[in-house]
Amino acid sequence: MDENIVWHNYAITKAQRSEHKSHKPAILWFTGFSGSGKSTVANALESALNQQGIHTYLLDGDNVRHGLCKDLGFSDEDRIENIRRVGETAKLMVDAGLLVLTAFISPFRAERDMVRNLVDDGEFIEVFLDTPLDVCESRDPKGLYKKARAGEIKHFTGIDSDYQIPNSPEIILDTSKNTLDQSVQELIAYLKQQQIIK
Ligand code: PPS
Repeated sequence: MDENIVWHNYAITKAQRSEHKSHKPAILWFTGFSGSGKSTVANALESALNQQGIHTYLLDGDNVRHGLCKDLGFSDEDRIENIRRVGETAKLMVDAGLLVLTAFISPFRAERDMVRNLVDDGEFIEVFLDTPLDVCESRDPKGLYKKARAGEIKHFTGIDSDYQIPNSPEIILDTSKNTLDQSVQELIAYLKQQQIIK
């Protein structure tokens, strides 16, 4: 960073921005293979939270790659930059007082941990979608696994690109075993237990 760039403190703090809200700010970071259920569970959870009047925002890989990250591909280097940008965006949203949900494969531990360290203790909740690869591949909602197996897509996660399983995620979900509602209820129970929502 340029040595002539100086940090300015704001007149109000994150805590003050959240003072009149019914929830605390946090990031629910969904990680897992393509087709593991990240977007589905995150959307269902966001709908449930929205009905309770909680101010949320969902950052989703496919959508963010239409704008903020549209210059990035799927090399390791580009995935690292993708998660760096998303992490910084989520941090700003936490600073604004939002309960942020993110749905990115985010295959590398180092980048997930980097985002964890961007926010305060307890504000980063790693949700590992531990749906087995063969189940994700059999779902193949976008036909991408088929293309990856045929060699038409290179560097596809789980096929010819690495996914590093989280060491100690706050929550583990397997959408091949749980219903969507069970997953949502488990997440809501965790948020209540952590006093992020009431
Ligand atoms: S990453 O690894 O976190 O930077 O990926 P992300 O931004 O979440 O984007 C994943 C979605 O992009 C589609 N797609 C691919 N995924 C993995 N590998 C390759 N090569 C690839 N090419 C395109 C795919 O639809 C992913 O969406 P999800 O929602 O995970 O299925």
